[in-house]
Amino acid sequence: MGFAFDAENEKRFEAIRERYPDPAAAMLPALRLVESQAGNVSDEAVAYVAGRLNVPPAFAHGVFSFYTHYRRASDGRHVISVCRTLPCALRGSDRIVEHLRKRLKVDAGGTTPDGKFTLKETECLGACGGGPAAEIDGRCFENLTPEMLDRILDGLDRGATPEPG
Ligand code: FES
Repeated sequence: MGFAFDAENEKRFEAIRERYPDPAAAMLPALRLVESQAGNVSDEAVAYVAGRLNVPPAFAHGVFSFYTHYRRASDGRHVISVCRTLPCALRGSDRIVEHLRKRLKVDAGGTTPDGKFTLKETECLGACGGGPAAEIDGRCFENLTPEMLDRILDGLDRGATPEPG
């Protein structure tokens, strides 16, 4: 069945639409609303939002594919997004990605066969002074080391919620 906002989110969507005179500018908060309702953003939902905002579907998909922080329908249960922008790169983000690639046996953009982990590379998370940084299940972790990652991933394997710091 196709995506549609439920009654509560329909009201929120209307409020978003009123807040942004340019419908294209409402795309990001509208996609966030989709994510909060469905748990992820499917291609179908992107097309739905495009239709609701009267913007071309190709524009909506372009916006959606540019922003990696939305949870995709194909994402695993846990999403690890490692910042690859220069300040984090200078502080060793490549070592972090390499460690995750080896541990999870997937490349960036991939999901483990059991559907548990998705590894992504992303642009600046706004934690540049604490690089290398990564967002794990919506929380930002700084000054990461392979050992810290192992502890975090072991915790996730046991069902724990990762806590920064
Ligand atoms: Fe990595 Fe800003 S450059 S958080």
